[in-house]
Amino acid sequence: MSNTGLPPKDSSHYLNDLHNSLGAQRRYQIWAVGGGKGGVGKSLVTANISICLALLGYRVVAIDLDLGGANLHTCLGLPIPEKTLSDFLNKKTRNLKDLKTPTSIPGLSIISGAQDDVGIANLKQLHNRKILSHLGELDADIVIFDLGAGTSNNTLDFFISADQGILTSLPEPTSLENTYRFIKSFFYRKLKLIEDFWELGPLIDKAYNSRMIDSETPADLLEKISRINPQMGQKLKQEINLICPKLIINQVRTQADIEIGNSMKIICKKYFGLNLDYVGHLEYDATVWQSIKKRKPLLTEFPNSDLVANFDHIVQRLLNWN
Ligand SMILES: Nc1ncnc2c1ncn2[C@@H]1O[C@H](COP(=O)(O)OP(=O)(O)OP(=O)(O)O)[C@@H](O)[C@H]1O
Ligand SMILES: [Mg+2]
Repeated sequence: MSNTGLPPKDSSHYLNDLHNSLGAQRRYQIWAVGGGKGGVGKSLVTANISICLALLGYRVVAIDLDLGGANLHTCLGLPIPEKTLSDFLNKKTRNLKDLKTPTSIPGLSIISGAQDDVGIANLKQLHNRKILSHLGELDADIVIFDLGAGTSNNTLDFFISADQGILTSLPEPTSLENTYRFIKSFFYRKLKLIEDFWELGPLIDKAYNSRMIDSETPADLLEKISRINPQMGQKLKQEINLICPKLIINQVRTQADIEIGNSMKIICKKYFGLNLDYVGHLEYDATVWQSIKKRKPLLTEFPNSDLVANFDHIVQRLLNWN
């Protein structure tokens, strides 16, 4: 995502800040784990992908951005860290790096989410920028965000800022609906940021206003923009084509559950015109609650479980090793 194809940088612009904190000059990658719904395994995925990467030798910092509901530390077998993002956002701690808490896995640290009532939806854009602009001091190869549930602009912006945006979904209708909603919201948010950046307001407004039906898809909107301004439509399509969230289906119990990921990929392309990369599934496994109850990381507590093999496969896909 670093090669955005966007016009030259204007350092005052938000989209620029998002992409820069991520741009080609960055020496670290950002991965973000999100999903529309609560309880679908985002923290479990963040924790165990982080452990896999650290065991492969990467320096990893996992950041709990589930502000208000932070529990990533539990999935990593840690008590609530003494310092949390609240201290940084309230200016009690100047540097993000001072919040890094080491874990039992060499190379992996965590930054815990706020423990007070600051929901991420209440964060100001300023706070997003502040967090993103301090990531460089973490001395990490990969920074991983645990985004928490929902589709607030702050959550979507952190997802947009990532080199790898990873969506976790359960193989059940409510969760799938939320995942589609997340993807659509992500698309419209990204379009909005591009629109501001390219000063496309009137063009996109015109396309929006000629909306015939509420069920209009992102692909329909792009078509409409192309009809009004073919050149800009083409540019936008190229930019949107770069979007390719990764999908993980969690808690699968049957082969049919596994296949859901492939169907979602097809549906996303057909109805939204968006690419989705299905990077693998995670089986439903009792070792999850056993490890959480013991407050031990799953990956180190049950290294021979099927679930750990699932995680290995997913991480290799995310690293493009297969
Ligand atoms: N593959 C799995 N097998 C068995 N149980 C699972 C699995 N994945 C998740 N769970 C269970 O689901 C619960 C929720 O997982 P997790 O906390 O990772 O979800 P979340 O998406 O981060 O939730 P929240 O939105 O509340 O932060 C876990 O406590 C665990 O018990
Ligand atoms: Mg969570």
